[in-house]
Amino acid sequence: MDLGLNGKTALVTGGSRGLGRQAALTLAQEGANVAICGRTQDTLDSTVQELSEKGVKAIGVVADVSNADDIAPLHQRVVEDIGPVDILVNNAGGARSREDITAVALEDYKATFELNLFGGFQLMQLVIPHMQQQKWGRIINIASIWGREWGGNISYMSAKAALIGATKHAALSLAKDGVLVNSIAPGSIAHPQGSWERFQNDNTPEFVEDFIAHNLPMGKFGWPEPLGDLVAFLASERSGLITGACIVIDGGQSHSMI
Ligand SMILES: NC(=O)c1ccc[n+]([C@@H]2O[C@H](COP(=O)([O-])OP(=O)(O)OC[C@H]3O[C@@H](n4cnc5c(N)ncnc54)[C@H](OP(=O)(O)O)[C@@H]3O)[C@@H](O)[C@H]2O)c1
Repeated sequence: MDLGLNGKTALVTGGSRGLGRQAALTLAQEGANVAICGRTQDTLDSTVQELSEKGVKAIGVVADVSNADDIAPLHQRVVEDIGPVDILVNNAGGARSREDITAVALEDYKATFELNLFGGFQLMQLVIPHMQQQKWGRIINIASIWGREWGGNISYMSAKAALIGATKHAALSLAKDGVLVNSIAPGSIAHPQGSWERFQNDNTPEFVEDFIAHNLPMGKFGWPEPLGDLVAFLASERSGLITGACIVIDGGQSHSMI
């Protein structure tokens, strides 16, 4: 299947490690030029090296998506070095607090929204004019199954639910413009230095086995490659009728029927 990604410009936030790295590598494999951002120069450099080896243009930009002041310079740098953004993957995210309603600090609750929602929201606003003008664009927001149904902590669940909402609303606003906006809801996907690797290292084998038995129908954690393939498909010509969707990729982990 030709995805038609050759020569497109993609920006993947949090693209130096984990799911973002896999998304960036798969987009590059399909011929897209790829910019990634993260907070750490070293890991950006090594992933940019891997991306360049696929024969595409690749850059890494130090930027913290939870810092509003980093967003416009990030976008500007990508436009100048590679070109206007055709494909935006808002991937960077996580939790700033694991407390429940009785204990969470308002600052941490807000900070989780800054990390998962506001930076990505700013980036959407920056890339949309070019996408509208050329009547083609793809925005993919990485949410979580815990933005669709109960799970995780209150900060993360609330922020991911808001991201899914913003995705749906933007999708309908842009549907006539050839700009498709979708979210992806991963389940528990393990990768080097990721939270599920830490979970497995920090707990006893019995505890981990029990978690898997009760939560992961496939009997194992997820792995990043299928997520990269899904991002590439949603970014492609071939996904033309899909917009406003939230696509679950979780090996059957979540319980919602919709
Ligand atoms: N893995 C899962 O099981 C899972 C499940 C559901 C949803 N998700 C979502 O999928 C996305 C990626 O997950 P992941 O497991 O790959 O996460 P991760 O391991 O925490 O992601 C690491 C990547 O994000 C970058 N990053 C972290 N904070 C950043 C910030 N403030 N600004 C810019 N870049 C930042 C990291 O680089 P630096 O550290 O150098 O900044 C690195 O490139 C997240 O939105 C997460 O919520 C993951």
